[in-house]
Amino acid sequence: MKNDPWLEKWQNLIKKKSAEGGILELGCGSGRDTVDLLAANCQLTAMDISQKNLAECAIKAPKAALLQMDLSKPFPFAAQSAAVIVASLSLHYFSWAATLQISSEVRRCIKSGGVLLMRLNSLNDLHYGSASTFEIEPNFYHVGTGTKRFFNKEDVRLFLQGWDIFFLEENIIDRYKKPKHVWEAMAVYSAV
Ligand SMILES: C[S@@+](CC[C@H](N)C(=O)[O-])C[C@H]1O[C@@H](n2cnc3c(N)ncnc32)[C@H](O)[C@@H]1O
Repeated sequence: MKNDPWLEKWQNLIKKKSAEGGILELGCGSGRDTVDLLAANCQLTAMDISQKNLAECAIKAPKAALLQMDLSKPFPFAAQSAAVIVASLSLHYFSWAATLQISSEVRRCIKSGGVLLMRLNSLNDLHYGSASTFEIEPNFYHVGTGTKRFFNKEDVRLFLQGWDIFFLEENIIDRYKKPKHVWEAMAVYSAV
């Protein structure tokens, strides 16, 4: 079994929902989740800013449609076009203003009844930068050559404003050399 199999418990939900429309994967990296998502036999668009990561994803998951894009820019998708949106460890690189813009784009693109599955760095993620000294704005730091945001529960809830949150848990994942603390959320959007 691969380490960090976080999507396993959501596979039935993903299968059911993806019968109603496509899946968008935000920040797919080299495709470790993309492969699991394709198991639902769905129409999947996976995107990332890194051409190198997309090239690796194309090898692992040849059935996925791939798109190079910057998540901090408006998404090139129609309103209410996705039944499932998945974002694992990819939405925590941004200023709070950009984070809220992403949250609003995610909400715009999801169908009514659609599902969001996401994981975000937790404020307790000490091994991977949450104790960094170069704070740009609250909970947003220079880490290495890039930037990282670390979320408390309240910030995750702010990101998910307008969604019904069915699952929100802080977990320690076994994926890298040291334990990593993340928030995992499953939420459903119902248009009013
Ligand atoms: C930690 S990796 C996670 C990848 C994948 N979701 C996984 O769990 O294996 C974060 C990914 O986010 C992508 N990323 C970072 N900033 C981005 C941006 N502004 N727009 C799109 N993707 C971005 C990175 O290139 C990287 O592939």
